[in-house]
Amino acid sequence: MTKKAELHYNGKIYELPLITGTENENAIDISRLRADTGLITLDKGFKNTGSTQSAITFLNGEEGILRYRGYSIEDLAEKASFLEVAFLLIYGELPTKSELDLFVEEITQHSLVHEDVKSILDGFPSKAHPMGVLSSLVSSLTAFYPKSLDPNRSKEEVNGTIIRAIAKLPTLAAWSYKNRMRQPIMYPKNELSYTANFMHMMFGLPTTEKKISTVVSKAIDKLLILHADHEQNCSASTVRIVGSSHASLYASVSAGIAALWGPLHGGANQAVIEMLEKIKADGGNVDKYVDKAKDKNDTFRLMGFGHRVYKNFDPRATIIKKAADDVLNELGINDPVLDIAKKLEKVALNDDYFKSRGLYPNVDFYSGIIYRALGIPTDMFTVMFALGRLPGWIAQWKEMRENKEPIGRPRQVYTGSNERKYISINRR
Ligand code: CMC
Repeated sequence: MTKKAELHYNGKIYELPLITGTENENAIDISRLRADTGLITLDKGFKNTGSTQSAITFLNGEEGILRYRGYSIEDLAEKASFLEVAFLLIYGELPTKSELDLFVEEITQHSLVHEDVKSILDGFPSKAHPMGVLSSLVSSLTAFYPKSLDPNRSKEEVNGTIIRAIAKLPTLAAWSYKNRMRQPIMYPKNELSYTANFMHMMFGLPTTEKKISTVVSKAIDKLLILHADHEQNCSASTVRIVGSSHASLYASVSAGIAALWGPLHGGANQAVIEMLEKIKADGGNVDKYVDKAKDKNDTFRLMGFGHRVYKNFDPRATIIKKAADDVLNELGINDPVLDIAKKLEKVALNDDYFKSRGLYPNVDFYSGIIYRALGIPTDMFTVMFALGRLPGWIAQWKEMRENKEPIGRPRQVYTGSNERKYISINRR
Protein backbone atom coordinates (compact mmCIF):
# COMPACT_ATOMS: atom_id res chain seq x y z
CA MET A 1 0.00 0.00 0.00
CA THR A 2 1.38 3.42 -0.94
CA LYS A 3 1.85 5.50 2.18
CA LYS A 4 0.18 8.91 2.26
CA ALA A 5 -0.42 11.73 4.71
CA GLU A 6 -3.69 13.64 4.75
CA LEU A 7 -4.13 17.38 4.98
CA HIS A 8 -7.56 18.61 6.04
CA TYR A 9 -7.95 22.19 4.88
CA ASN A 10 -10.93 24.34 3.92
CA GLY A 11 -13.33 21.41 4.08
CA LYS A 12 -11.25 19.31 1.72
CA ILE A 13 -8.87 16.39 2.22
CA TYR A 14 -5.60 16.47 0.31
CA GLU A 15 -3.44 13.37 0.08
CA LEU A 16 0.28 13.99 0.30
CA PRO A 17 2.61 11.17 -0.77
CA LEU A 18 5.21 9.88 1.70
CA ILE A 19 8.78 9.30 0.59
CA THR A 20 10.83 6.71 2.46
CA GLY A 21 14.62 6.72 2.45
CA THR A 22 16.90 3.69 2.53
CA GLU A 23 17.15 3.95 6.33
CA ASN A 24 13.33 4.13 6.61
CA GLU A 25 13.16 7.84 7.24
CA ASN A 26 9.78 9.18 6.13
CA ALA A 27 9.10 12.53 4.55
CA ILE A 28 5.88 14.14 3.37
CA ASP A 29 6.27 15.21 -0.25
CA ILE A 30 4.78 18.71 -0.43
CA SER A 31 6.07 19.58 -3.87
CA ARG A 32 2.47 20.03 -5.18
CA LEU A 33 1.16 21.69 -2.01
CA ARG A 34 0.98 25.28 -3.28
CA ALA A 35 -0.34 24.31 -6.69
CA ASP A 36 -3.11 22.17 -5.18
CA THR A 37 -4.03 24.13 -2.05
CA GLY A 38 -2.48 27.62 -2.31
CA LEU A 39 -0.62 26.93 0.94
CA ILE A 40 3.08 27.00 1.66
CA THR A 41 4.85 25.63 4.73
CA LEU A 42 6.78 27.76 7.21
CA ASP A 43 9.79 26.27 8.98
CA LYS A 44 12.38 28.83 10.09
CA GLY A 45 15.87 27.38 10.11
CA PHE A 46 14.57 24.37 8.13
CA LYS A 47 14.29 22.37 11.36
CA ASN A 48 11.83 19.90 9.78
CA THR A 49 12.41 20.52 6.11
CA GLY A 50 14.27 18.18 3.80
CA SER A 51 15.81 20.19 0.98
CA THR A 52 16.87 17.23 -1.12
CA GLN A 53 17.22 13.47 -1.42
CA SER A 54 20.86 12.57 -1.00
CA ALA A 55 22.90 9.36 -1.15
CA ILE A 56 26.05 10.81 0.41
CA THR A 57 25.81 10.86 4.20
CA PHE A 58 23.47 9.18 6.65
CA LEU A 59 23.04 10.74 10.05
CA ASN A 60 20.81 9.64 12.91
CA GLY A 61 21.03 12.25 15.63
CA GLU A 62 19.04 10.29 18.21
CA GLU A 63 21.31 7.25 17.99
CA GLY A 64 24.53 9.12 17.23
CA ILE A 65 25.09 7.42 13.85
CA LEU A 66 27.15 9.00 11.08
CA ARG A 67 27.99 7.15 7.86
CA TYR A 68 29.58 8.29 4.61
CA ARG A 69 28.16 6.32 1.66
CA GLY A 70 27.17 3.58 4.14
CA TYR A 71 30.56 3.28 5.89
CA SER A 72 30.63 4.12 9.60
CA ILE A 73 32.57 7.19 10.66
CA GLU A 74 34.28 5.09 13.34
CA ASP A 75 35.65 2.67 10.72
CA LEU A 76 36.71 5.38 8.31
CA ALA A 77 38.42 7.49 10.99
CA GLU A 78 40.32 4.47 12.24
CA LYS A 79 41.27 2.79 8.97
CA ALA A 80 41.06 5.11 5.97
CA SER A 81 43.12 8.04 4.77
CA PHE A 82 41.57 11.48 4.18
CA LEU A 83 41.98 11.35 0.39
CA GLU A 84 40.47 7.85 0.31
CA VAL A 85 37.44 9.27 2.15
CA ALA A 86 37.37 12.28 -0.20
CA PHE A 87 37.24 9.88 -3.18
CA LEU A 88 34.46 7.89 -1.50
CA LEU A 89 32.34 10.97 -0.83
CA ILE A 90 32.79 12.50 -4.28
CA TYR A 91 32.58 9.41 -6.52
CA GLY A 92 30.37 7.21 -4.32
CA GLU A 93 32.59 4.15 -3.86
CA LEU A 94 35.85 3.39 -2.07
CA PRO A 95 38.72 3.61 -4.58
CA THR A 96 40.75 0.62 -5.72
CA LYS A 97 44.50 0.92 -5.12
CA SER A 98 45.13 2.17 -8.66
CA GLU A 99 42.19 4.61 -8.54
CA LEU A 100 43.48 6.07 -5.29
CA ASP A 101 47.05 6.29 -6.63
CA LEU A 102 45.84 8.20 -9.67
CA PHE A 103 43.63 10.49 -7.54
CA VAL A 104 46.52 11.29 -5.18
CA GLU A 105 48.90 11.78 -8.12
CA GLU A 106 46.53 14.24 -9.82
CA ILE A 107 45.96 16.18 -6.62
CA THR A 108 49.71 16.34 -5.96
CA GLN A 109 50.37 17.61 -9.51
CA HIS A 110 47.90 20.50 -9.12
CA SER A 111 48.85 21.81 -5.69
CA LEU A 112 50.65 24.91 -7.00
CA VAL A 113 48.58 28.06 -7.50
CA HIS A 114 49.13 30.76 -10.09
CA GLU A 115 51.85 33.24 -9.05
CA ASP A 116 49.38 36.13 -9.44
CA VAL A 117 47.40 34.79 -6.47
CA LYS A 118 50.27 36.17 -4.39
CA SER A 119 49.45 39.72 -5.41
CA ILE A 120 45.83 39.22 -4.31
CA LEU A 121 47.13 37.87 -1.02
CA ASP A 122 49.46 40.85 -0.63
CA GLY A 123 46.44 43.16 -0.84
CA PHE A 124 45.03 41.85 2.44
CA PRO A 125 46.03 43.51 5.71
CA SER A 126 47.78 41.09 8.09
CA LYS A 127 44.85 41.39 10.51
CA ALA A 128 42.51 39.89 7.89
CA HIS A 129 40.74 36.81 9.24
CA PRO A 130 42.09 33.78 7.34
CA MET A 131 38.55 32.55 6.61
CA GLY A 132 37.78 35.76 4.72
CA VAL A 133 41.08 35.48 2.87
CA LEU A 134 40.46 31.83 2.03
CA SER A 135 36.95 32.46 0.77
CA SER A 136 38.26 35.28 -1.46
CA LEU A 137 41.18 33.25 -2.79
CA VAL A 138 38.94 30.30 -3.63
CA SER A 139 36.60 32.65 -5.45
CA SER A 140 39.59 34.12 -7.30
CA LEU A 141 40.27 30.68 -8.84
CA THR A 142 37.39 31.43 -11.22
CA ALA A 143 39.63 34.13 -12.74
CA PHE A 144 42.56 31.77 -13.26
CA TYR A 145 40.38 28.91 -14.55
CA PRO A 146 37.62 30.72 -16.51
CA LYS A 147 36.38 27.46 -18.05
CA SER A 148 35.28 26.44 -14.54
CA LEU A 149 32.63 29.19 -14.76
CA ASP A 150 30.49 26.87 -16.86
CA PRO A 151 29.51 23.83 -14.77
CA ASN A 152 27.82 22.30 -17.85
CA ARG A 153 31.12 21.45 -19.53
CA SER A 154 32.24 17.85 -20.06
CA LYS A 155 32.53 15.41 -17.18
CA GLU A 156 36.34 15.44 -17.59
CA GLU A 157 36.52 19.22 -17.37
CA VAL A 158 34.27 19.34 -14.31
CA ASN A 159 36.45 16.65 -12.76
CA GLY A 160 39.53 18.79 -13.47
CA THR A 161 37.86 21.63 -11.53
CA ILE A 162 37.17 19.24 -8.63
CA ILE A 163 40.78 17.97 -8.56
CA ARG A 164 42.14 21.52 -8.61
CA ALA A 165 39.88 22.53 -5.71
CA ILE A 166 41.16 19.69 -3.52
CA ALA A 167 44.76 20.20 -4.64
CA LYS A 168 44.86 23.95 -4.10
CA LEU A 169 42.87 24.42 -0.90
CA PRO A 170 45.77 23.44 1.43
CA THR A 171 48.07 25.86 -0.45
CA LEU A 172 45.54 28.70 -0.22
CA ALA A 173 44.79 27.86 3.44
CA ALA A 174 48.48 27.84 4.39
CA TRP A 175 49.04 31.08 2.47
CA SER A 176 46.18 32.76 4.33
CA TYR A 177 48.03 31.81 7.54
CA LYS A 178 51.33 33.16 6.21
CA ASN A 179 49.59 36.44 5.41
CA ARG A 180 48.28 36.54 8.98
CA MET A 181 51.81 36.03 10.32
CA ARG A 182 53.42 38.31 7.71
CA GLN A 183 55.79 35.45 6.90
CA PRO A 184 57.01 34.43 3.43
CA ILE A 185 54.76 31.87 1.77
CA MET A 186 55.94 28.29 1.37
CA TYR A 187 55.44 26.37 -1.88
CA PRO A 188 54.00 22.85 -1.90
CA LYS A 189 56.36 19.90 -1.94
CA ASN A 190 55.22 17.08 -4.20
CA GLU A 191 57.08 14.37 -2.31
CA LEU A 192 54.93 14.93 0.83
CA SER A 193 51.53 13.49 1.66
CA TYR A 194 48.47 15.77 1.57
CA THR A 195 48.52 16.38 5.34
CA ALA A 196 52.32 16.60 5.67
CA ASN A 197 52.45 19.02 2.73
CA PHE A 198 49.93 21.28 4.44
CA MET A 199 51.94 21.20 7.69
CA HIS A 200 55.07 21.98 5.65
CA MET A 201 53.42 25.03 4.04
CA MET A 202 52.17 26.20 7.44
CA PHE A 203 55.21 25.58 9.61
CA GLY A 204 58.03 24.35 7.38
CA LEU A 205 57.28 20.84 8.67
CA PRO A 206 58.21 18.10 8.29
CA THR A 207 61.84 18.65 7.41
CA THR A 208 64.41 15.91 7.81
CA GLU A 209 65.25 17.09 11.29
CA LYS A 210 61.68 17.81 12.47
CA LYS A 211 59.23 15.14 11.31
CA ILE A 212 55.64 15.29 12.50
CA SER A 213 54.97 12.17 14.53
CA THR A 214 52.61 9.44 13.43
CA VAL A 215 50.25 10.27 16.31
CA VAL A 216 50.03 13.90 15.21
CA SER A 217 49.61 13.24 11.49
CA LYS A 218 47.07 10.49 12.20
CA ALA A 219 45.16 12.93 14.43
CA ILE A 220 45.09 15.57 11.67
CA ASP A 221 43.95 12.99 9.12
CA LYS A 222 41.25 11.86 11.56
CA LEU A 223 40.08 15.43 12.11
CA LEU A 224 39.83 15.99 8.36
CA ILE A 225 37.87 12.74 7.92
CA LEU A 226 35.48 13.56 10.79
CA HIS A 227 34.75 16.93 9.24
CA ALA A 228 34.51 15.69 5.64
CA ASP A 229 30.72 15.75 5.35
CA HIS A 230 27.68 16.23 7.53
CA GLU A 231 24.73 16.09 5.13
CA GLN A 232 22.56 19.22 4.74
CA ASN A 233 24.27 21.50 7.28
CA CYS A 234 24.45 25.28 6.88
CA SER A 235 27.54 25.37 4.63
CA ALA A 236 26.61 22.30 2.53
CA SER A 237 23.15 23.73 1.96
CA THR A 238 24.79 27.02 1.00
CA VAL A 239 27.06 25.27 -1.51
CA ARG A 240 24.07 23.43 -3.00
CA ILE A 241 21.89 26.53 -3.19
CA VAL A 242 24.63 28.70 -4.74
CA GLY A 243 25.45 25.91 -7.18
CA SER A 244 21.76 25.52 -8.02
CA SER A 245 21.94 28.84 -9.87
CA HIS A 246 24.63 27.16 -12.05
CA ALA A 247 27.38 29.17 -10.34
CA SER A 248 30.80 27.53 -10.59
CA LEU A 249 32.19 25.05 -8.09
CA TYR A 250 34.76 27.59 -6.86
CA ALA A 251 32.09 30.27 -6.30
CA SER A 252 29.90 27.72 -4.51
CA VAL A 253 32.75 26.52 -2.27
CA SER A 254 33.76 30.11 -1.55
CA ALA A 255 30.19 30.73 -0.30
CA GLY A 256 30.38 27.50 1.73
CA ILE A 257 33.53 28.79 3.43
CA ALA A 258 31.70 32.00 4.36
CA ALA A 259 28.78 30.00 5.80
CA LEU A 260 31.15 27.79 7.79
CA TRP A 261 32.86 30.83 9.30
CA GLY A 262 30.05 31.73 11.74
CA PRO A 263 30.43 30.73 15.41
CA LEU A 264 27.22 28.67 15.38
CA HIS A 265 28.72 26.45 12.67
CA GLY A 266 32.44 25.82 11.97
CA GLY A 267 33.54 28.99 13.73
CA ALA A 268 32.60 27.28 17.00
CA ASN A 269 36.07 25.69 17.27
CA GLN A 270 37.66 29.15 17.47
CA ALA A 271 34.88 30.35 19.80
CA VAL A 272 35.45 27.40 22.17
CA ILE A 273 39.09 28.25 22.84
CA GLU A 274 38.27 31.96 23.13
CA MET A 275 35.56 31.08 25.66
CA LEU A 276 37.92 28.84 27.66
CA GLU A 277 40.56 31.58 27.70
CA LYS A 278 37.97 34.09 28.88
CA ILE A 279 36.89 31.78 31.72
CA LYS A 280 40.53 31.28 32.70
CA ALA A 281 41.24 35.03 32.67
CA ASP A 282 38.14 35.52 34.83
CA GLY A 283 39.54 33.28 37.58
CA GLY A 284 38.48 29.90 36.17
CA ASN A 285 34.99 29.99 37.69
CA VAL A 286 33.28 27.41 35.48
CA ASP A 287 29.97 27.47 37.43
CA LYS A 288 29.57 31.17 36.73
CA TYR A 289 29.70 30.54 32.97
CA VAL A 290 27.41 27.53 33.14
CA ASP A 291 24.89 29.78 34.96
CA LYS A 292 25.33 32.48 32.33
CA ALA A 293 24.65 29.92 29.57
CA LYS A 294 21.43 28.89 31.34
CA ASP A 295 20.25 32.47 31.89
CA LYS A 296 17.72 33.36 29.21
CA ASN A 297 18.47 37.07 29.70
CA ASP A 298 22.13 36.50 28.88
CA THR A 299 23.20 35.93 25.27
CA PHE A 300 26.16 33.78 26.36
CA ARG A 301 26.11 30.15 25.17
CA LEU A 302 28.52 27.35 25.94
CA MET A 303 30.38 27.14 22.68
CA GLY A 304 31.10 23.57 21.56
CA PHE A 305 27.88 22.37 23.20
CA GLY A 306 24.69 21.36 21.46
CA HIS A 307 23.88 20.39 17.93
CA ARG A 308 20.88 20.75 15.64
CA VAL A 309 20.74 17.02 14.93
CA TYR A 310 22.68 15.20 17.68
CA LYS A 311 20.61 15.04 20.83
CA ASN A 312 22.43 12.23 22.72
CA PHE A 313 26.05 12.51 21.69
CA ASP A 314 28.09 13.56 18.68
CA PRO A 315 29.88 10.42 17.38
CA ARG A 316 32.63 12.63 15.97
CA ALA A 317 33.25 14.08 19.42
CA THR A 318 33.74 10.60 20.92
CA ILE A 319 36.46 9.80 18.36
CA ILE A 320 38.17 13.17 18.54
CA LYS A 321 38.19 13.25 22.33
CA LYS A 322 40.37 10.13 22.27
CA ALA A 323 42.62 11.61 19.54
CA ALA A 324 42.98 14.79 21.63
CA ASP A 325 44.18 12.73 24.61
CA ASP A 326 46.70 10.90 22.36
CA VAL A 327 48.06 14.14 20.92
CA LEU A 328 48.38 15.81 24.33
CA ASN A 329 50.21 12.76 25.73
CA GLU A 330 52.49 12.53 22.69
CA LEU A 331 53.40 16.21 22.88
CA GLY A 332 53.58 16.20 26.70
CA ILE A 333 51.26 19.21 26.87
CA ASN A 334 49.85 20.47 30.11
CA ASP A 335 47.60 23.42 29.32
CA PRO A 336 45.49 25.14 32.03
CA VAL A 337 42.85 25.93 29.41
CA LEU A 338 42.38 22.21 28.95
CA ASP A 339 41.73 21.76 32.65
CA ILE A 340 38.96 24.33 32.33
CA ALA A 341 37.57 22.42 29.32
CA LYS A 342 37.46 19.21 31.38
CA LYS A 343 35.76 20.94 34.33
CA LEU A 344 33.23 22.60 32.06
CA GLU A 345 32.43 19.33 30.34
CA LYS A 346 31.86 17.63 33.71
CA VAL A 347 29.64 20.38 35.14
CA ALA A 348 27.53 20.73 31.99
CA LEU A 349 27.10 16.99 31.49
CA ASN A 350 25.65 16.69 34.99
CA ASP A 351 23.39 19.73 34.78
CA ASP A 352 19.67 19.29 34.17
CA TYR A 353 19.46 22.29 31.84
CA PHE A 354 21.93 20.68 29.42
CA LYS A 355 20.68 17.12 29.94
CA SER A 356 17.02 17.98 29.37
CA ARG A 357 17.83 19.83 26.13
CA GLY A 358 20.17 17.12 24.81
CA LEU A 359 23.16 19.49 24.85
CA TYR A 360 26.45 17.57 24.72
CA PRO A 361 29.97 18.50 23.65
CA ASN A 362 30.17 18.50 19.86
CA VAL A 363 33.14 17.86 17.58
CA ASP A 364 34.28 21.47 17.90
CA PHE A 365 34.66 21.25 21.65
CA TYR A 366 37.62 18.91 21.22
CA SER A 367 39.01 19.77 17.78
CA GLY A 368 40.20 23.18 19.00
CA ILE A 369 42.12 21.45 21.78
CA ILE A 370 44.13 19.45 19.22
CA TYR A 371 44.75 22.44 16.97
CA ARG A 372 45.92 24.48 19.94
CA ALA A 373 48.27 21.70 21.02
CA LEU A 374 49.73 21.64 17.50
CA GLY A 375 50.47 25.36 17.70
CA ILE A 376 47.85 26.31 15.11
CA PRO A 377 46.62 29.85 15.86
CA THR A 378 43.02 30.15 17.03
CA ASP A 379 41.76 32.05 14.01
CA MET A 380 43.06 29.27 11.73
CA PHE A 381 40.88 26.61 13.41
CA THR A 382 37.91 27.12 11.13
CA VAL A 383 40.25 27.04 8.12
CA MET A 384 41.23 23.52 9.27
CA PHE A 385 37.52 22.65 9.36
CA ALA A 386 37.14 24.00 5.80
CA LEU A 387 40.03 21.82 4.60
CA GLY A 388 38.25 18.77 5.97
CA ARG A 389 34.80 19.79 4.72
CA LEU A 390 35.85 20.42 1.11
CA PRO A 391 35.17 16.86 -0.19
CA GLY A 392 31.69 17.03 1.35
CA TRP A 393 30.93 20.35 -0.32
CA ILE A 394 32.18 18.99 -3.64
CA ALA A 395 30.13 15.80 -3.27
CA GLN A 396 27.00 17.83 -2.41
CA TRP A 397 27.55 20.20 -5.35
CA LYS A 398 28.21 17.31 -7.75
CA GLU A 399 25.15 15.37 -6.60
CA MET A 400 22.95 18.46 -6.92
CA ARG A 401 24.24 19.03 -10.48
CA GLU A 402 23.93 15.37 -11.51
CA ASN A 403 20.38 15.18 -10.15
CA LYS A 404 19.58 18.32 -12.17
CA GLU A 405 18.03 19.97 -9.13
CA PRO A 406 16.08 23.19 -9.73
CA ILE A 407 17.30 26.55 -8.47
CA GLY A 408 16.87 26.85 -4.69
CA ARG A 409 14.30 29.51 -4.00
CA PRO A 410 12.30 29.34 -0.76
CA ARG A 411 9.01 31.18 -0.29
CA GLN A 412 8.06 33.45 2.60
CA VAL A 413 5.10 34.69 4.57
CA TYR A 414 5.12 38.46 4.05
CA THR A 415 4.57 40.49 7.25
CA GLY A 416 5.27 44.05 6.01
CA SER A 417 2.98 46.98 5.17
CA ASN A 418 0.12 46.63 2.77
CA GLU A 419 0.14 48.79 -0.34
CA ARG A 420 0.37 52.51 0.44
CA LYS A 421 0.69 55.69 -1.59
CA TYR A 422 4.04 57.39 -2.05
CA ILE A 423 4.09 60.89 -0.51
CA SER A 424 6.67 63.27 -1.92
CA ILE A 425 9.45 64.29 0.49
CA ASN A 426 8.38 67.93 1.00
CA ARG A 427 4.86 66.87 2.01
CA ARG A 428 5.99 64.38 4.69
N1 CMC B 1 24.52 26.80 25.49
C1 CMC B 1 23.38 27.07 26.20
N2 CMC B 1 22.13 26.78 25.77
C2 CMC B 1 22.02 26.23 24.56
C3 CMC B 1 23.15 25.92 23.77
C4 CMC B 1 24.43 26.23 24.29
N3 CMC B 1 25.53 25.95 23.57
N4 CMC B 1 22.75 25.36 22.61
C5 CMC B 1 21.41 25.32 22.67
N5 CMC B 1 20.96 25.83 23.85
C6 CMC B 1 19.58 25.89 24.33
C7 CMC B 1 18.78 26.99 23.66
O1 CMC B 1 18.86 28.19 24.39
C8 CMC B 1 17.40 26.40 23.63
O2 CMC B 1 16.86 26.50 24.93
P1 CMC B 1 15.26 26.69 25.14
O3 CMC B 1 14.64 25.42 24.65
O4 CMC B 1 15.10 26.90 26.60
O5 CMC B 1 14.88 27.89 24.32
C9 CMC B 1 17.63 24.91 23.37
O6 CMC B 1 18.94 24.65 23.94
C10 CMC B 1 17.62 24.51 21.90
O7 CMC B 1 18.56 25.35 21.22
P2 CMC B 1 18.37 25.88 19.73
O8 CMC B 1 19.20 27.11 19.56
O9 CMC B 1 16.90 25.97 19.41
O10 CMC B 1 18.96 24.68 18.91
P3 CMC B 1 19.44 24.74 17.43
O11 CMC B 1 19.30 23.35 16.90
O12 CMC B 1 18.77 25.84 16.67
O13 CMC B 1 20.99 25.15 17.55
C11 CMC B 1 23.34 25.03 17.77
C12 CMC B 1 22.04 24.25 17.49
C13 CMC B 1 24.53 24.14 17.45
C14 CMC B 1 23.40 26.27 16.85
C15 CMC B 1 23.34 25.45 19.26
O14 CMC B 1 23.31 24.31 20.09
C16 CMC B 1 24.54 26.33 19.61
O15 CMC B 1 24.47 27.56 19.43
N6 CMC B 1 25.67 25.73 20.10
C17 CMC B 1 26.88 26.48 20.35
C18 CMC B 1 27.64 26.69 19.04
C19 CMC B 1 28.34 25.42 18.58
O16 CMC B 1 29.02 24.74 19.35
N7 CMC B 1 28.20 25.15 17.28
C20 CMC B 1 28.92 24.04 16.63
C21 CMC B 1 28.03 22.94 16.17
S1 CMC B 1 29.03 21.50 15.70
C22 CMC B 1 29.81 21.98 14.25
C23 CMC B 1 28.92 21.93 13.09
O17 CMC B 1 28.57 20.81 12.65
O18 CMC B 1 28.55 23.01 12.60
